Amino acid sequence: MVKFTKTLTSVAAIAAISALALTGCGRSDSGSGSSSSGAAGFDKSSLIGVALPQKTSENWVQAEGLFNDGLKNAGFKGEVQFANGGVTEQQNQISSMITNGAKVIIVGAVDGGQLGTQVKQAKDAGATIIAYDRDLTKTSDVDYYVAYNNFKVGELQGQALLAGMKAKKPNGPYNIEVFAGSNDDANSKPFFDGAMSVLKPKIDDGTVKIVSGQSTQNAAATAGWLAENARKRMDTLLAGSYSTATLDGVLSPNDTLARAIIGSVKAAGKPIPVITGQDSEVDSVKSIMAGEQYSTINKDTSNLVTAAIQMVKDLQEGKTPTTNEKDNNGSKEVPTQYLEPVIVTKANAAEAYKNNPTLEALTK
Ligand code: BGC
Repeated sequence: MVKFTKTLTSVAAIAAISALALTGCGRSDSGSGSSSSGAAGFDKSSLIGVALPQKTSENWVQAEGLFNDGLKNAGFKGEVQFANGGVTEQQNQISSMITNGAKVIIVGAVDGGQLGTQVKQAKDAGATIIAYDRDLTKTSDVDYYVAYNNFKVGELQGQALLAGMKAKKPNGPYNIEVFAGSNDDANSKPFFDGAMSVLKPKIDDGTVKIVSGQSTQNAAATAGWLAENARKRMDTLLAGSYSTATLDGVLSPNDTLARAIIGSVKAAGKPIPVITGQDSEVDSVKSIMAGEQYSTINKDTSNLVTAAIQMVKDLQEGKTPTTNEKDNNGSKEVPTQYLEPVIVTKANAAEAYKNNPTLEALTK
């Protein structure tokens, strides 16, 4: 995966620029003048730190190569680190980046609520903090956020689940189960809330039923975004609530968990329900083309990394980075650059991946 993305850099850059044009944003509406960072610029040979979480999905693995190449091509000294050991490791990595003089630290948090001390230290040292993909919470020291619109991702998943079930069985009621991401990831709430904003009216009018009754984010959470946890929960739900009832649909927040849930259903000898996902992982695109997983979300990692690196370039030149939104992280309205996620099913896969040779080849 990482290899082919190199060749995509220019396509990605064009796509990112046109995405910006489409969302109507520009420097004039950046609305981020309140940020104290970036005004003076900094030396181009400066260190840019990139602190990524565990490799819980392919997007993080892809980000490593894209950041290394993108920062190098832009003339920066980049340093990308994964916090495979969790929160403490990430806290230590960010502290070292500050000690080593990083001017910008891009953070994909393991737990966005536990980096307050480090981002304060970074700020005191004159560094700018960009939250990447996952926003940082419980701090007002985050300067910028760049991500695909997470609530929108959830809405698209909820809509796909309903459409997929309707296509298979025109009339409800539909039996479903819902899964959420890890509670320590700030994205899990907007994903879940976005999906439930679509599903709730259908649950209220009786079209859709969560047979287990487990309808809250906490009840549906998947600790650590780990496939094994989703699989175990699905095993338990099938044994407890589906000995006679048919499971029509499952809301899965991402592809890794979707495949784990499909594995559980297959092992139980039940028909595969309509199931959502996110990330356009290779095995899930294959599963969609084979008619198993129903949908995924295209959030091209190269576009997101390109947008983050564009912020670094702007900061280096002393400009205020372009943003098109504010994300309220509980402590601050964080100037945010949102990219638009795209829903993908078998029907539009070829079109959706036309700029991604690896994924497009899977749709033939
Ligand atoms: C990302 C998703 C990813 C998940 C697990 C989230 O924060 O936005 O794309 O599937 O983390 O790695």
